[in-house]
Amino acid sequence: MRKILAGMVSAGLALALTACGSDEIPADSVYANQGATIGISMPTTTSPRWVADSDAMIEQFEAMGYNTEREYAENKPEDQAKQIQGMIDRGDKLLVIAAVDGSALTEQLKAAEAKGIQVIAYDRLLTGESEVDYQATFDNVRVGQMQAQLLVDRLDLDADDDKTYNIEWFAGSSTDNNAQDFYDGNKAILQPYLRSGKIKIVSGERRFNQMTTKDYLREVAQERMTRLLDENYQNQQVDAVLSPYDGMSLGIIDALKEAGYGTDDKPLPVVSGQDAELDSVKSIIAGEQAGTIFKDTRELAKVAVEQGNAMLTGTKPIVNEEEFFENELGKVPTYLLYPVAIEASNYKTLLVDSGYYEAEALMS
Ligand code: GAL
Repeated sequence: MRKILAGMVSAGLALALTACGSDEIPADSVYANQGATIGISMPTTTSPRWVADSDAMIEQFEAMGYNTEREYAENKPEDQAKQIQGMIDRGDKLLVIAAVDGSALTEQLKAAEAKGIQVIAYDRLLTGESEVDYQATFDNVRVGQMQAQLLVDRLDLDADDDKTYNIEWFAGSSTDNNAQDFYDGNKAILQPYLRSGKIKIVSGERRFNQMTTKDYLREVAQERMTRLLDENYQNQQVDAVLSPYDGMSLGIIDALKEAGYGTDDKPLPVVSGQDAELDSVKSIIAGEQAGTIFKDTRELAKVAVEQGNAMLTGTKPIVNEEEFFENELGKVPTYLLYPVAIEASNYKTLLVDSGYYEAEALMS
């Protein structure tokens, strides 16, 4: 992993110096990155959060005087590799990447390294032998714990009674390192209740590789839920479904409704989620999805922009976690943000009063 040029130079100072007409600046100095282009590579538009994340970064980077170019890989690792190669060939100075497959970009990242192009892993770790300088992300194990805690609280699993509950469990995309973190967090909370028999996974599908969901897709989650219901719930009901992401939660709820859930006799099970996407917040308000985990993408974008600007101006990027994240090339210094649990009782304060969503957007 590459070392960043040291020196306390802000972008503002760099701009001021050039405005004074200094032509003594060597081409490889930290000032050389003024007006540089930053490549922003996002995994997909199927999840609206990646659009919001990259819009926020573009606005902030451009306000600092940088140029940006953004591409979406639409969940195809090979397209993302090509798009990133294009950014390298066009001379971008910094790449901010949320990978479809964290291990599929090693060749391009080696080429970036050879050209002195710096790399930030955005939200998702770049794994394998990926050359990466910094990461901006959330505490995703904590996300997983909070998702499972929603089930514990809503089913009242700590009550001193003999009731037992049926649950099913979903994981995210097998190519995204975060999916394993969510699962580990889920497991840390659910394990004691599974061991004691308080909850039971009726399908028996409890290993990570039995429950992953291709590209976190809504329809893939819906299909699996339909299958689980057909195979296991002809004579009993499911009481909770651990879903790691809002888009999947909505697919799961669709499958449940098709199977007759959502009535007084057969209420919808407790369904978790993540990202506080608009449609899921509406579902929470309507009393369908039970809750979600909010990761404020405005804050994450701000962190990545601060890291990127520091890298391009030779100052030290913000980091608060040096040890936890690593790939096969070594540790990845990271800035970790903390998620917040959202339910019908607190969405107004956390999502509307904070300006994340307009109240009207949640009504339509
Ligand atoms: C994960 C991310 C989640 C969710 C999911 C599907 O990597 O951490 O917040 O967005 O992808 O897009």
